[in-house]
Amino acid sequence: MVTAVAQRLASQRKEIDDTLAAFALSPTQLQEVKAKMRVELERGLKKDSHPTASVKMLPTYVYRTPDGTERGKYLALDLGGTNFRVLVVKIRTGMRNSVRMYNKIYAIPLEIMQGTGEEYNMFTIIILYKLRNCISDFLDYMGMKNTRLPLGFTFSFPCNQTGIDKGDLVCWTKGFKATECEGYDVVDMLREAIKRRNEFDLDIVAIVNDTVGTMMTCAYEDPKCQIGLIAGTGSNVCYMEEMKNIEFVEGDEGQMCVNTEWGGFGANDNIEDIRTRYDREVDGGSLNPGKQRFEKMTSGMYLGEIVRRILIDLTKHGLLFRGRITERLKTKGIFETKFLSQIESDRLALLQVRSILQHLGLDSTCDDSIIVKEVCGAVSRRAAQLCGAGMAAVVDKIRENRGLDNLEITVGVDGTLYKLHPHFSTILKDTVRELAPNCKVDFILSEDGSGKGAALITAVIDKYLYAMRFSDETLRDIMARFRREMENGLGRDTNPTATVKMLPTFVRSIPDGSEKGDFIALDLGGSNFRILRVKVSHEKKQTVQMESQIYETPEDIIHGSGSRLFDHVAECLGDFMEKQKIKDKKLPIGFTFSFPCAHTKLDEAVLLTWTKRFKASGVEGMDVVKLLNKAIKKRGDYDADIMAVVNDTVGTMMTCGFDDQRCEVGIIIGTGTNACYMEELRHIDLVEGDEGRMCINTEWGAFGDDGTLEDIRTEFDREIDRGSPNPGKQLFEKMVSGMYMGELVRLILVKMAKEGLLFEGRITPELLTKGKIETKHVSAIEKSKEGLTKAEEILTRLGVEPSEDDCIAVQHVCAIVSFRSANLIAATLGAILTRLKDNKNTPRLRTTVGIDGSLYKMHPQYARRLHKTVRRLVPESDVRFLLSESGSGKGAAMVTAWASRLQNAFMHRV
Ligand code: BG6
Ligand code: BG6
Ligand code: GLC
Ligand code: GLC
Repeated sequence: MVTAVAQRLASQRKEIDDTLAAFALSPTQLQEVKAKMRVELERGLKKDSHPTASVKMLPTYVYRTPDGTERGKYLALDLGGTNFRVLVVKIRTGMRNSVRMYNKIYAIPLEIMQGTGEEYNMFTIIILYKLRNCISDFLDYMGMKNTRLPLGFTFSFPCNQTGIDKGDLVCWTKGFKATECEGYDVVDMLREAIKRRNEFDLDIVAIVNDTVGTMMTCAYEDPKCQIGLIAGTGSNVCYMEEMKNIEFVEGDEGQMCVNTEWGGFGANDNIEDIRTRYDREVDGGSLNPGKQRFEKMTSGMYLGEIVRRILIDLTKHGLLFRGRITERLKTKGIFETKFLSQIESDRLALLQVRSILQHLGLDSTCDDSIIVKEVCGAVSRRAAQLCGAGMAAVVDKIRENRGLDNLEITVGVDGTLYKLHPHFSTILKDTVRELAPNCKVDFILSEDGSGKGAALITAVIDKYLYAMRFSDETLRDIMARFRREMENGLGRDTNPTATVKMLPTFVRSIPDGSEKGDFIALDLGGSNFRILRVKVSHEKKQTVQMESQIYETPEDIIHGSGSRLFDHVAECLGDFMEKQKIKDKKLPIGFTFSFPCAHTKLDEAVLLTWTKRFKASGVEGMDVVKLLNKAIKKRGDYDADIMAVVNDTVGTMMTCGFDDQRCEVGIIIGTGTNACYMEELRHIDLVEGDEGRMCINTEWGAFGDDGTLEDIRTEFDREIDRGSPNPGKQLFEKMVSGMYMGELVRLILVKMAKEGLLFEGRITPELLTKGKIETKHVSAIEKSKEGLTKAEEILTRLGVEPSEDDCIAVQHVCAIVSFRSANLIAATLGAILTRLKDNKNTPRLRTTVGIDGSLYKMHPQYARRLHKTVRRLVPESDVRFLLSESGSGKGAAMVTAWASRLQNAFMHRV
């Protein structure tokens, strides 16, 4: 009797052991798995075998892990794991450990995951009904609606990426199976769906697999982290591969993260020897039969299912649950991984295991509990060992890539299986240790999910551009700084050391309508040298007639000796008078000279320093009127009477003042940048008198020359400065004006290309040549309709063969740089406006700003951005922006008219 029972028990035991034996992998078998995985990794990387490889080895366009200098505020979506999450990630000071995250989890209903999508595809549904609401709800909750944050999108499925923000879904895996998505660009679908609702705007910068997000999250803490592992619902690994090994991606330099998609391992039947009948059953009953065979043996979504199938089998053989196969046991999915993890916990007594089973509706005895626990153990152990074998292949590959005998490396891990299962991580680590003895592999758990990593990737891309975006708070701060600079420039004691010189111009009022006469105006210092004849007549009403001619000013003259420069000016003037047939007349001349000059009267102007392109010797510190007169005298073929020298800002203000009496500010946003405005005489310490007003040429281009703007200058601004004719000077001008903007863009593009973020890392000699991108190109690229075509044209001329994505990225860079310029000028102009308002002691300022300059005039968005920001920064003002249609020459003539009237009156008196 006893023997019979013992025999029965022994035979039952044997049956159970036999069933589970298929799950016990010998060291040799594991070695084989490792070797096969290694082969597949190589096949996936090779051009020829890549298309048919079971391990897809997808390029991710992530070229490096974070270096701790990233900062900014980012939005992240995390879709494809157990939870759908929306996050805001704030990376504060650019130092490690300074990341704050706010997130919310939203449920995704099954019908969306597996929607047959009669009407909409999955993205449309999610975006329209879910994602849109979630993000919008989230932004509301964060008080961040209306902020257009850059977004990193963790999308945990295989995507064929051709750029960091472009990924065609290869195929759904795990529990997703929505129609009309495979083969399409996920980012496009997301963008399109958001656009359709037109409610908010997202700037999708990167699409990131969860393994990559996890690697980046962990690499932020540990620079040795170069591998990302997910052991969760799905199973997958990414790692940093040498570019030269990724045959189907151009470029040989550096590294790129490869998303292995090792879940697909086995698709070519090479692990059939270790697959069991249960694995095949689970595969057959899945959403994607035949696919993801390795994943189905190793990941959380399937382990419970394998266990359930074994339990049914054992029950059929009367080895469990008293041989009764209940409806409950027949229910797919009852055995979730979290139960597996609970059952296997060493801390649970058998009774507790039993109660879990009972809770699952499986009426079990204590013996049953033991067996179930054993089954779970066998299945999860195999999963951990297989992942370990795969990981051993990966680390060995990295070690060999680097030609090392020993490798130390860290794996960043995430996923519910790894996190919740009591033994998974230990077995995994043991296996790696056994199979890759030459590698010391550390595993660190990603505490923060992959969203942080996605944000970090976004930050890596956005790093250079981030420093160029300013909040209104920063702009107000810059406005306040400039207010202080203005005060310093005006004060008697502070002026000598002030950087913003606030030069008195001796222009006392804007035109009053009584000006008349025949004048010549010279206009030197902008992009063109122009000579004009301006006739102001006064029959019934004041009318102005102008004729003008542009003269060349060759580089060698601009950079030669001062006397050559003024000889050239005098020669052009002679030519002009000849053509106008006025060589015998002595017309009054107004000279627009667009450089900083110290005046003690209108017709004396001592050049303080050259700016922009000019650098003629022997002029700084000299009175330009004298130099020009000397040159004219030397010729002796005509006579001239230079009555007034005005800065171009002043000329512009006067030109606009002719049409609008309220005009009291003049600004130039062209080759250089500068502003003048009407200041109360009593505030100008350097000029005597208290009554009335005088125009002050601020020379704001020099703002920051004393270090005031160091916190907002970027490495590119510094590089521009170093390569300029006047290093250390005009630092504000170099951040904003037309002479430098194209070059700024070029430097950023070079840097991004070097980091592989653009042009697939290709850098051409043209791209490396100073001056090859001009501000007019920036204007063309930012045109809303043909901008991208222009970008392509311009970049093609630089020899870089841009992709569509490159063109979009370049447009983005241009926009950031020109936006920064408009923002900064809005801040300095805002300071002038608030000063005017205070001077007038009025609650609301009504004024007109006269503007000129090629950047302002030619750039498609600049003016609008500037106006908008100024109105936001100085809300208590009504500002009219008036474009000077006729240049500053007309204004110079107005000043001259006034000066000659004054002179006549004076002569009369004498
Ligand atoms: C999360 C990550 O922590 O882990 C996700 O943020 C990832 O991106 C997930 O997909 C994987 O684990 P599971 O178990 O949720 O699939
Ligand atoms: C012109 C003015 O219209 O604009 C010049 O007449 C001025 O006096 C110039 O210097 C500024 O713009 P840019 O783009 O030529 O430097
Ligand atoms: C599946 C996906 C893969 C993802 C993994 C983990 O294997 O195909 O992209 O990384 O699950 O979530
Ligand atoms: C430079 C000059 C300034 C001029 C401006 C615009 O900043 O120093 O005088 O007004 O360019 O041309």
